[in-house]
Amino acid sequence: MSAVDTRVNLAGIELRNPVLTASGTFGYGTEFAAFLDLREIGGLVAKSLTLKPRFGNPPPRISETASGMLNAISLENVGVESFLSEKLPALPDEVTVLASIFETDIGRYAEVARRLGESSRIAGLELNASCPHVQSGGIEFGQDPGALGELVSRVRAAVRLPLLVKLSPNVTDIAEMARVCEAEGADGVSLINAVQAMDVDVERGRPVLSNVLGGLSGPAILPIALRMVWQVYHAVSLPICGIGGIATAEDALKFMLCGATAVQVGTANYLDPSVSGRVAAGIRSYALERGVARVADLVGSLEVPSGAPGR
Ligand SMILES: Cc1cc2nc3c(=O)[nH]c(=O)nc-3n(C[C@H](O)[C@H](O)[C@H](O)COP(=O)(O)O)c2cc1C
Repeated sequence: MSAVDTRVNLAGIELRNPVLTASGTFGYGTEFAAFLDLREIGGLVAKSLTLKPRFGNPPPRISETASGMLNAISLENVGVESFLSEKLPALPDEVTVLASIFETDIGRYAEVARRLGESSRIAGLELNASCPHVQSGGIEFGQDPGALGELVSRVRAAVRLPLLVKLSPNVTDIAEMARVCEAEGADGVSLINAVQAMDVDVERGRPVLSNVLGGLSGPAILPIALRMVWQVYHAVSLPICGIGGIATAEDALKFMLCGATAVQVGTANYLDPSVSGRVAAGIRSYALERGVARVADLVGSLEVPSGAPGR
């Protein structure tokens, strides 16, 4: 049996394999170290950080759905300074760490990026553009191409680290959003964030979540995410990190065949905190069985009959 090279380069970030864990579903990494050797995965994307510590919504803020979960945690986090001084040093040096940024206005986003850019321990940044844009009356930055472009360009100017922009699926044309990121100097795109959704408790005649609306994640959204990765792969030349409902190596491979250079495991971590290690091992086995020397060669290798519709 020949060896398989599992390394991929995601937007300038060297990963030992293509499997990362998704922001908000893996804490700051240390919480999972008892269940998984963090060196078995490509790396982790830490919980989105704001300038100051932030508390989330009151409960109920998570709920189970058919093949998924709804959450409206609202980006509770320790703040950028505690992340840099306490959370980051607690992770072994061999673990590749991407930090995620979230804020309510562009200046604050850029300031969080600048602070994170001062750390040599961070391999790259993921810009979570799926938060409400307060100045536009609550619509997400990621839903407005103009606001998204301004956000990406300001954060780009503030930091030299590799910059991935995490796209919202709550748009009509995901390819347009990816093109905006490419034009404004992003190094890659991550997609998708949770799909806006809600649920109702008919006994109480009330919404299930205290926030009424939440984000749907888990296996239920995988086909939506796959479709969006496929469309973005054909719209831009940026590398893509695929996210949405991944729980097995087969799920991850679907994203890679559709054009994702790397993937993130999210909600599945709640069911099994060691699952991402198995996803990484399964990708390697798949390549080995098929005589694929480099896992990177699988990216975009989907065979589509000529003349087939669907982009
Ligand atoms: C409880 C929870 C918290 C999340 N928090 C964040 C976050 O802080 N930042 C972010 O960019 N995405 C966040 N997400 C979205 C995930 O990173 C991911 O994009 C989404 O859940 C889809 O992937 P999945 O179906 O594998 O979970 C969160 C998701 C969940 C379920």
